[in-house]
Amino acid sequence: MNLADLNKVARAMVAPGKGILAADESTGTIKKRFDAINVASTEDSRRDYREMLFRSSEAMSRYISGVILYDETIWQKAKDGTPLVKLIEQAGAIPGIKVDEGTQPLPNCPGELVTVGLDRLAERLKKYYDAGARFAKWRAVIDIAGGTGGPGTDGRGIPTMTAIDVNAHALARYAALCQAAQIVPIVEPEVLMDGDHDIERCYEVTKRVLNKTFQELRVQRVALEGMVLKPNMVVSGKKSAKQASVEEVAEKTVRLLKNCVPAAVPGIAFLSGGQSDEEATAHLNAMNAIGGLPWPLTFSYGRALQAAPQKAWSGRSENVAAGQRAFSHRARMNSLASKGEWQAELEKKAA
Ligand code: 13P
Repeated sequence: MNLADLNKVARAMVAPGKGILAADESTGTIKKRFDAINVASTEDSRRDYREMLFRSSEAMSRYISGVILYDETIWQKAKDGTPLVKLIEQAGAIPGIKVDEGTQPLPNCPGELVTVGLDRLAERLKKYYDAGARFAKWRAVIDIAGGTGGPGTDGRGIPTMTAIDVNAHALARYAALCQAAQIVPIVEPEVLMDGDHDIERCYEVTKRVLNKTFQELRVQRVALEGMVLKPNMVVSGKKSAKQASVEEVAEKTVRLLKNCVPAAVPGIAFLSGGQSDEEATAHLNAMNAIGGLPWPLTFSYGRALQAAPQKAWSGRSENVAAGQRAFSHRARMNSLASKGEWQAELEKKAA
């Protein structure tokens, strides 16, 4: 492992005013997104859509540091034959790859999930490196509400320490394998927003998850200087009657991260996790407005960057320019938020 080079890539991923585009939806997930805009999900339509994003030169060159790809996409070529990976590189961004293979039910823990994909990961990483990937992503899912689980779950006793332990262990196994393959791991332990719990509960669960994750990273000798953390923000449950303010989300998230994340980590890039576009931007902005943090805080959004361009595009080639404008706008808003310089009025002006 060359830690200096890993650190260089990690710092580039969180460079000032830039963040990550998570375009790594699995075939099943992108189909759901396309269903919502009445577009058939085929290899070609997925390619056309992602080509539109990667050819958004303003967004890609000014606001996007890296793109997380799905396995299908890393091997795909644009309509004119240029590999999609090349389009990303030509824009000055770094190609990355999702390497987990999704979740499976966790035995003995009804309703809970464990992320899988460690078998043969070392071989796969080598192929992805050769294809141009310089960072990777693995997402662990921790459910507070028990809503995603199997029969007989009502959310009581969830999450178990078992689910937190095995998922943290797998994240650290993945991260160690990535660094051995000279790939920067994005370590993503996501505590879901689903449920009617209050923000305090999200704080407590996320604290347990982050503490366990960093404990496992240490045990497995992962070099913190060569990774990026992708956490959830501390927010109220989606169905909670009491929704915390933007300021409270920012204050609690910053307090928690300061308690749990060593300063050696080069940067933190949040997931959006089902927040609206503007909420995700406002929260990131409010955290950066607090300032005085040991790491850059930026975005690694999927839905909060893509919902608007998907709608504007709607599968029509004549809408490509409109889709790119929508993408550039969201990317610019989040870039400003990563510097604490966003204002709500900027959204209205663009509309
Ligand atoms: P969302 O921002 O839509 O949560 O997606 C980010 C991501 O990569 C989740 O793994």
